[in-house]
Parts: sequence; structure tokens; C-alpha cells
Amino acid sequence: MNSILVTGGCGFIGTNFVRFLFEKDGENFIVVNVDKLTYAANPENLVDIQERYSKRYFFERADICDFESISRIIDKYDVDTIVHFAAESHVDRSILGPSDFVKTNIVGTFTLLEAVRERFEKGKIIRFHHISTDEVYGSLGKEGYFYESSPYQPRSPYSASKAASDHLVRSYHNTYGLNVTISICSNNYGPYQFPEKLIPLMIVNMLENKELPVYGDGKHIRDWLFVYDHCTAIWEILKKGKVGETYNIGGENEWENIRLVEFLCELVAKKINKEAGSLKKLIKFVKDRPGHDRRYAINCEKIKNELGWRQSVDFETGLDFTVDWYIRNIEWLNKVRSGEYLKWIEINYGYR
Ligand code: NAD
Ligand code: TYD
Repeated sequence: MNSILVTGGCGFIGTNFVRFLFEKDGENFIVVNVDKLTYAANPENLVDIQERYSKRYFFERADICDFESISRIIDKYDVDTIVHFAAESHVDRSILGPSDFVKTNIVGTFTLLEAVRERFEKGKIIRFHHISTDEVYGSLGKEGYFYESSPYQPRSPYSASKAASDHLVRSYHNTYGLNVTISICSNNYGPYQFPEKLIPLMIVNMLENKELPVYGDGKHIRDWLFVYDHCTAIWEILKKGKVGETYNIGGENEWENIRLVEFLCELVAKKINKEAGSLKKLIKFVKDRPGHDRRYAINCEKIKNELGWRQSVDFETGLDFTVDWYIRNIEWLNKVRSGEYLKWIEINYGYR
């Protein structure tokens, strides 16, 4: 790997992944971050990386649906590896307006694959690693797990668009022989997550004494993965993964939403010297999300057995670190919510 193109590097997981890449010793690859800078992007997340690694880190504002721009960027930096995060990622938004999900997640992935295929046919091989979600497998009952061999049963416009993109990636391997790998992971948590997702939303609402909206009966289950552990898993796949293969990545850490929110109340209360009970009183059961998947749980034995990957932290430790991060970075939270980053984008890049 000499030149790694990361798509969506200004989003939650992409930011963590770019930062992770620059924590590695003895590596000389360059990293090109291609991001359209949607509402979910925070370009300031990587300002220090830009300053410290100005010869190895490059940012290009582009839409992954724009074939010309993507082709130009791949050639300009002689890209040999693509790690594809860019997506519309929030289920609730996909219910309100699925159109951008179809464009970015399906057409965007297709456009990247076409750019890679064009070069492949001229003899240039580019490794394409695609990031997907366990939501493509559908919803589990009380028992069972998602395996790499589980059938696809996406139930929201978001998961349907991710499923379509996974199928395209596999088809480009089977049909054209492209050098692809796919990882399918469970819910991530950690620093830099946009506060529309459960964990940062609950933390910020607790800090502001606002209601904590829990959908339906709160007994839906998610399997939480620390974002840093997601990054180490992707790295193992890039280094040792078999081309054409799919790897599940999970936290092996199932929590009912309501239990998780109550636990967060206890953690946050300790940090801000409040009674946990006063935060728990903010919990409000609200109308359920349409088509709300009941349970996700990943079996990740394959990546553990074949690539030797392991999670590095237990949930209590990871969540404690995460709560601290949001409390320390309240200014970041205020900025992302105020749309100030959009102003920053306008000033620095000339357009929204
Ligand atoms: P995010 O919403 O925080 O960030 C997405 C990034 O993609 C943003 O920076 C955005 O500007 C960029 N982007 C969106 N449309 C684009 C386009 N057309 N062209 C270029 N850039 C564009 O998302 P995230 O939570 O970091 O998720 C990253 C990837 O991981 C996604 O593919 C998502 O489906 C997958 N995933 C996320 C989770 C999770 O818990 N967050 C779990 C499983 C899988
Ligand atoms: P979310 O963070 O949106 O991730 P996903 O839907 O991709 O799993 O939601 C995680 C869980 O929390 C999901 O079951 C929906 C629930 N939820 C709430 O109960 N209240 C909220 O305000 C949000 C955003 C999510």
C-alpha cells in the first residue's frame, strides 16, 4: 500500500480511520481523503493531521457519484488502495428521504467500482475495500447470529441501499475479477460521531437536561463495537484478508437500548456530579421507528480465527472513554449541531 484513498474520511468512522492510519509507525503511504462534506462531515476533525502530515495527507472535496472527479483523483495520487466509507448512514433520515441514500450508497459505490474497473482493464490493480453494515442481514429474533453466509434481508431504505452496494462490489469481483474485500460491522461508538445517533445524542441531551427519546418499548438490541476496534479490523483485512471474501466485525456486546441509556445515565451522572436518578427521569418512551429492526448480533469468528483480530476494550471502558471525549469536546458538539461547520466549509471551499 503506497497510496490509500479513503472515501468519507470526514465522517465518524472515516475520521477515526484516517487518524488511526497516521498513528502507525514505519508506514510511508499517502492518504487521500475524498469527501463531499455533507451535514455529517466535520472537516475540522483532521486539521491537525493536515498540519502534521502535509506531505502524506491530502483532502479532495468530491462526490463519489462524479466519475470524472474520482478518476482524476485516482490518477493524480496513483491510488492503489481504496477504503470506502462514504455513505448516507442514518436510518431515520433514510425513512424521511431515501433519495440521497440511493444516490450515494448505490450509484456512488457503482461509480467508484467503474473507475477501478476502467484502470483494471488497462493493467492497474487497485484493492477495493468496502465497508458495510450488519443491517443488510435484517432483524434477528431472541436467538441466533448473523454469519457471513446469512441471507440478505434489508428492511429500511438505508440497509437496502447498503445491501445493493454490497451486491455490486461482489459482482465486480465475480464478473470482472476486481480485487475486492468487504467488511460488515455492527453499531460503532466512539469519538466524532454525529449527535443524531443513539449514544452521542443521549450524552448531549443529558448534558443539556433534555428528554432522552427511547423508541418503542426500548427492548431493541444492538451489538456495540468500539470504533478503534473497527479500524484495527479493517487494517487486518487490508493486510491479510483474502480477495473476494467478506468478514463480519462485531463487538460481541449486545445491549437493549433502554439498559444502555440507563447505564449511560449512570456514567454521565458520575462525571458531572449529578444523581443518576435525575438523568433517568429524562427518559421518554416515544413512538417507534417504522420497521424498527428488533435485534442485531454479529458472529465474528471468521475474522478472529483467520486473521487473528480481537476487540481491544470492553464496553464499560470504551463507553467511559467516549463519554469523557464528548464532555471534553462540548465545543465540537455545539459546532456540529449549529451548522458552523457548514459555514467553515463555505469559507474554506467556496460552496456548500
Ligand atoms: P457518517 O454519516 O458519519 O459519515 C459519512 C461521510 O461520508 C461524511 O463525511 C459525508 O460527508 C461523506 N459522504 C456522504 N455522501 C458522500 C458522497 N456522495 N461523496 C463523498 N462523500 C460523501 O457515517 P459513518 O457512521 O462514519 O459510516 C461510515 C460507513 O460505515 C458507512 O458506509 C456506513 O454505512 C458504515 N457503517 C456505519 C456504522 C455505524 O455504526 N456508524 C455501522 C455499520 C456500518
Ligand atoms: P441508531 O444510533 O440510529 O443506529 P441504528 O438504527 O443504525 O442501529 O440507533 C440505535 C438504536 O437506538 C436503534 O434501535 C434505534 C434506537 N434509538 C432510540 O431509541 N432513540 C433515538 O433517539 C435514536 C437516535 C435511536
